[in-house]
Amino acid sequence: MTKKRILSGVQPTGSLHIGNWLGAIRNWVELQKEYDTYVCVVDLHAITVPHNAEKLKSDTLSTAALYVACGMDPRECSIFIQSHIPAHSELCWLLNCVTPLNWMERMIQFKEKALKQGDNVSLGLLDYPVLMAADILLYDADLVPVGEDQKQHLELARDIAQQRINSRFSKNNNPILKVPKPLILKEGAKIMSLCDGKNKMSKSDPNENSRIGLLDDPDAIQKKIKKAKTDPHFGLEFSNPERPESDNLLGIYSMVTNQSREKVAEECSEIGWGKFKPLLTDAVITSLQPIQQKYNDLIKDPSELNRILKEGTNNAKTLSGHTLQRVREALGFLETINI
Ligand code: AMP
Ligand code: TRP
Repeated sequence: MTKKRILSGVQPTGSLHIGNWLGAIRNWVELQKEYDTYVCVVDLHAITVPHNAEKLKSDTLSTAALYVACGMDPRECSIFIQSHIPAHSELCWLLNCVTPLNWMERMIQFKEKALKQGDNVSLGLLDYPVLMAADILLYDADLVPVGEDQKQHLELARDIAQQRINSRFSKNNNPILKVPKPLILKEGAKIMSLCDGKNKMSKSDPNENSRIGLLDDPDAIQKKIKKAKTDPHFGLEFSNPERPESDNLLGIYSMVTNQSREKVAEECSEIGWGKFKPLLTDAVITSLQPIQQKYNDLIKDPSELNRILKEGTNNAKTLSGHTLQRVREALGFLETINI
């Protein structure tokens, strides 16, 4: 039986935090054993808001290195940079021309991000979800592992594939594009800010203390956890709506120590914040240590990373080329002339 395929990606905007790891990359590491796995660094998405050119370069490389450092194994998966495969931009254009504008205007993430940009909203920001649909549809992905916040974008990719391409252009009921499904894993789906248990941990939060970066050193981690918001209650617990910080930090503790929620809830029910914070600090530092070690090795000698990306790009090019060809044919484009 052939394996089902998954595809996912993270934007190289700023450095990745434990939310990206626990909510996304760590799931991929498990999934790659079972699925035919493609993961990319979505650099074209990173320029949908104003960006710094030098920083884009280093963030793209560092995000790819972190994929590998977190355990993405080039023997099990293909890792590549989105902009290295021109088919993403090309399919995006083809999909743009069949996607109704009013589908785009109701995207929640667009509305939120547009609000932050004031007068400076690019057409690319509005088009962001179509580019994401192109990323997914090019690889005939069966499943797309993402966080809860990306569900609406997945719905859009499904609607474009089904209603705007397959039902309009396929002949004899042969679908042109595979209709993907989201794969949203409950655990870690939403890691909250250290400063406010009701807000998502985010790269774009101006307060550095709200997140733990995957590359933060032990000192920084300790300081951030020390400053993390607490509440006046004694003992840590899950699922008390009045105690979002307890739920969040206990959840992180459970994940970084690889212990069940029941086990950590029992361990921490009779200790106060003063005792819990050092426990959490040690656990986070210990869990990030091997990732940071591997990351530093990869950045010091980039030949291994280059080899991994070359192989990933080759695989991605072959697969996406076939899909793009199917769509070009279905939409009526003249065959390219070989010169
Ligand atoms: P982003 O940082 O928005 O580029 O997101 C990259 C991936 O990490 C996506 O799959 C997100 O759903 C996931 N992600 C981002 N922030 C969090 C968070 N605070 N908790 C869990 N997952 C997250
Ligand atoms: N929009 C996604 C996010 O912010 C990133 C992304 C772009 C993506 N293309 C994708 C995720 C394709 C999964 C599949 O998290």
